[in-house]
Amino acid sequence: MNPVYAQARRAADWLRTRIPLQPETAIVLGSGLGELVEAAHPQWRIPTHMLPGYPASTVEGHAGLLSWGHLEGIPVLFVQGRVHFYEGYSIQEVVYPVHLLHALGVRNLILTNAAGGINPLFHPGDLMLIRDHIAFGFANPLRGIESRPYRRAAGSPYDTAWSEALFSAALREGIPLREGTYLWTQGPSYETPAEIRMFRRMGADAVGMSTVPEAVQAHHYGLRVVGLSTITNLAAGLSPHPLKHEEVVAQGRAVREKLSRLLRRFLRSVSDPPA
Ligand code: HPA
Repeated sequence: MNPVYAQARRAADWLRTRIPLQPETAIVLGSGLGELVEAAHPQWRIPTHMLPGYPASTVEGHAGLLSWGHLEGIPVLFVQGRVHFYEGYSIQEVVYPVHLLHALGVRNLILTNAAGGINPLFHPGDLMLIRDHIAFGFANPLRGIESRPYRRAAGSPYDTAWSEALFSAALREGIPLREGTYLWTQGPSYETPAEIRMFRRMGADAVGMSTVPEAVQAHHYGLRVVGLSTITNLAAGLSPHPLKHEEVVAQGRAVREKLSRLLRRFLRSVSDPPA
């Protein structure tokens, strides 16, 4: 068995003795979005370093916590402990949280992130629904695990029905929601202006350093995946001043109220039986 998965299974067994409920839905929170958890008045939080094998989070804006609460009465497991490839972990370790969620029985996964806007119509503070992605990080967590091209890899990992539900929720909340293709780079360097010009020609609308490995792994498990990017900045070369991580974190905080409203409305709509 994949050793990372084996550890995540052990962590799930340990956690299950502490979580009374079966979580159906999990939200992975991106840079500066961690405070969204407060809205759910979490019943408990566990530092991720207590879980066997959970890679330590080394990035500002990522607390290294797993929390359990209710949003709109719906039980949600929050992951504030994203692992990035640029932190030096293997691509298998990067998807440890997805292994853990799968082992816990999670079926729906909402991936959020901070991203740079490439689409010229995008502004900092916009939200973008991820319709599809480009794996420009050139690593795949299924490598060596799946020896044949995996059949699900043929389509976009992002669930169409839930993506439409997110759009409807945004419309009803009066929140403008962009949509587009998210391009993943390894980082940790931000891109050069020349790279951004290339990415734009390739069809990317936003760029970031996370989400894609998780979406690939979750899709492989058959989880329902949706992705939301917070456009925290204009990508390199599109703004007159150089980009800083603090700006990404600060802008993430600024839009969290909007994101929180959107997610609440969305969760309500997908959990209500159709009228
Ligand atoms: N590039 C890469 N990752 C990012 C950016 C960016 O401009 N903004 C937030 N995450």
